Formats: sequence, C-alpha cells, structure tokens
Amino acid sequence: MHQFYKLTITAIDPQPNAVVWTLDIPSDLQDEFDFIPGQHLTFKQMHNGEELRRSYSICSSSLRKDQLNVLIKSVEGGRFSEPAQSQYQVGDQVEVMPPTGHFALQPKNGQCYVAFAAGSGITPVMAMIYATLEQTDDAQFILFYGNSTSGDILLHDEIAALKDQYQGRFSVHFFLSRQKVDMPFNHGRIDHGKVTFIKDHFLNQLEVADYFVCGPGEMIDAVCRSLELLGVPQENIHNERFLSEGQEISLADKTIKEDAGITVTIDGANHRFDIKAGEQATLLESAESAGVDLPYSCKAGVCATCRCKLVEGEAEMINNYSLEQWELDAGYILSCQSVARSSKIHISFDE
Ligand code: FES
Repeated sequence: MHQFYKLTITAIDPQPNAVVWTLDIPSDLQDEFDFIPGQHLTFKQMHNGEELRRSYSICSSSLRKDQLNVLIKSVEGGRFSEPAQSQYQVGDQVEVMPPTGHFALQPKNGQCYVAFAAGSGITPVMAMIYATLEQTDDAQFILFYGNSTSGDILLHDEIAALKDQYQGRFSVHFFLSRQKVDMPFNHGRIDHGKVTFIKDHFLNQLEVADYFVCGPGEMIDAVCRSLELLGVPQENIHNERFLSEGQEISLADKTIKEDAGITVTIDGANHRFDIKAGEQATLLESAESAGVDLPYSCKAGVCATCRCKLVEGEAEMINNYSLEQWELDAGYILSCQSVARSSKIHISFDE
C-alpha cells in the first residue's frame, strides 16, 4: 500500500501559474488508487542524486476510476513544481504513492458542507465538491474562494460548469484581494470580518454539517478561529495547510534521551530495531537509518503522509500542523515529528 507505482501522464492542462496533470490508472491499480475526496498523492523524483518527495491533492471526480487529476502550483525555485510546468510531457511516467491524507469528506444525503479555500487550497476541496454533487442526491456545497485577481482563479472552468449543472445545490462566492470588484463583500482576503458576515448572512438559516478550510496558514488560522468564536464546534472544522516548496520547518530538540527498542508495523509486517540515547532522530529518521521504508512526504508536520498510531510507549511530537484533536486523542502521531521518549515503542501504520 505504501509503495510507489509508475503512472503515465495522459494530459497536461495549463492553469494560472500551475498545471493539472491527468494520470492514467491501469485497471490492476484502480483499487490501490481509490481515494476519499480530499486526499493527496505523494510523488517521488530523483534530483541531482537526492530523492525529492512532494504531495499534491487530487482535484478530480472519484467516479472516473481510470484517471486522477492533481494540480501542481508553480513555486519559484521549486525543484519539483517548476519542472512540472515545463519539462514533463504527455506520455512521461512519474512515481506515485497511492492516496493518503485525512482531510477528507465522505458526503451524505441531506447534508450541507461549506469550504473556505485560498489559492491552490482549492485542489482538495474540488474533489469534495465533485463527490458531494455526484455521489449524493441532494447534499449541498457552498464554496468561499479567495485569490489575488480573477486571472489567478484556479480550476475556474470546472467550478463554473458545476455551478451551472448543479444549480440549487452548489454555490460559489469569489473574493479578490488585489482587484477592484463591484461588491465590497467580494473584495479582500477571507478574514474574521468576512467569516462573521458570511455566517450571519449566508449560513444563518442552514445547518452546516462540516466546514473545510484549505490555504496558507494565516488564512486557516483566521477562519478556524473565527468559526470557533461564532460557535461552530471544533470537531466540525477541518483544515489542511500546505507548505511551499523549500519552506523549512525546524525541529527543536530531537535528542533521544534513553536507549529504546522500536517496533514498526506496516503493511502487515513487524520490523524491530534499537535506537541509542544521545542520537538526534525522529521515529521516521530512526526507521530510515534501520532500513525500514516508511511513507512520508513533507517531513514538516503538514501533510500527514507519515501518520501512524502509537500502540505502545511514549513519543514527543514537536510540530503538528495536520492532526486534529480526535486523532491525537486516539493515539495518532506524525512519525516525522515524533521523538522516542520511552525505552519501548511500538508504532503502526496499519491502523
Ligand atoms: S511527512 Fe508530512 S507530516 Fe510527516
């Protein structure tokens, strides 16, 4: 499940400062690449002798089992995202890990879902919109989507087509921060003032099942805090941050304080190895040194590709930008951010 497969790019669709790759999913891999809307794919590529991994959210409908779309936003100097814009061609193969991620929506009939997205934060939300409209009879989706200018709006044609096709069930409100617009409401970033206005004027008659928030950290913090202040229970607010390529997140002290025996369960097999007091290593790094191949992408606490369950022992998680409270309560940790804090530890990637 956590291995990489070679997939072929069958279409490349230019977007503002981004591309959408369509990947062919052969019939024997369709179960493996089945996804929950909101999940992402991890890509692996060698660059000057170094292995790069990057995660990009699936932005297509899950009805098509034979293809998946991912949107790759160009980041200046991005070692994966820049070549993705210009060097890859239809017919090229890329190495891809099956979908992972817990920022996900399995829509139900009769429910109303709301998303706040900014920039490329639209990508996981797009798959959620498709699922809500295509896989239920009557569920509704309301999207509030912020960009700098109208020319920066990603997936604009798809959003417009869905709006036409599903009138009454899908509505979208665009916000532009660097372009004049007629309605003051639609000008500016999505911030506390906007969220309060939206809650009072657009959502006051609605019972919203879940809120999804995706974009830069500042926007996520503002929207989530505002929703909580406005009385939305924390468990109904879900967010996913993204890390720009090259953006580093530092790990404070990852010194292991006592010798420990580690057991890792993954894909039905147990792997055992020891770590020594004084070493500087996260659980993911210790496993890598011991030759145990674990899933990861950002190594920064953001993507949750490395999520596992702490079955036994104690670990200190230094950064967490992705796990929600219920996951922490259930014992999930990010192995790329966790340091052993007991002499015996068992983590599992199978739960
Ligand atoms: S690899 Fe991304 S959170 Fe650990």
